[in-house]
Amino acid sequence: MRLTIKILVVIGIVAFVVIQFFQPEKNISDEVKNHIFTQEQLPENVKEIFKTSCVDCHSNNTTYVWYHNIAPVSWLVNKDVLAGKKELNFSEWGEMDDYDKIGAIEDIRQEVEQKTMPIKPYVIMHPEAKLSDEEVAVLTAWIDKKGEELLKSSTEK
Ligand code: HEC
Repeated sequence: MRLTIKILVVIGIVAFVVIQFFQPEKNISDEVKNHIFTQEQLPENVKEIFKTSCVDCHSNNTTYVWYHNIAPVSWLVNKDVLAGKKELNFSEWGEMDDYDKIGAIEDIRQEVEQKTMPIKPYVIMHPEAKLSDEEVAVLTAWIDKKGEELLKSSTEK
């Protein structure tokens, strides 16, 4: 029995070491040409909220901490980043037309009003990313304003 446990522990350690060789590609880019922060004159508080709570999964540049390099954590992080970017990528804001942008900010409104973003596991590891009622109000006020602007410019075209 004791020997079986020892063998299992050794197999576990070996497996842990082996999976470290299978790391996903990191989501890192310093290309900011089409980033929403370059494209829009965002109010400072809106920018701060996006920076603190959203860009890790919704842009081409994630800020990693040491344990994100360790499989299987690295795999889970990568999965969220890929799924998040597929829905909304702030690094590609400049490539979207007005209608896409209207759609995007309305999606953002829904997620932040219902507080379904950022996703729970992220908030557990980054408590500062959790949105307060005040931050939700800041975002929705910006969305109202931006929505009107976009609607106006899209109907003028
Ligand atoms: C830890 C990664 C992560 C963070 C941080 C994060 N999201 Fe997401 N987001 C996701 C994932 C994964 C999806 C796709 C799956 C889903 O909808 O749960 C998603 C989906 C979305 C969608 C599309 C929802 C839909 O179904 O139409 C919007 C909009 C969105 N996020 C906005 C935000 C905003 C705004 C923030 C910051 C306040 C944020 N997210 C923070 C991972 C994240």
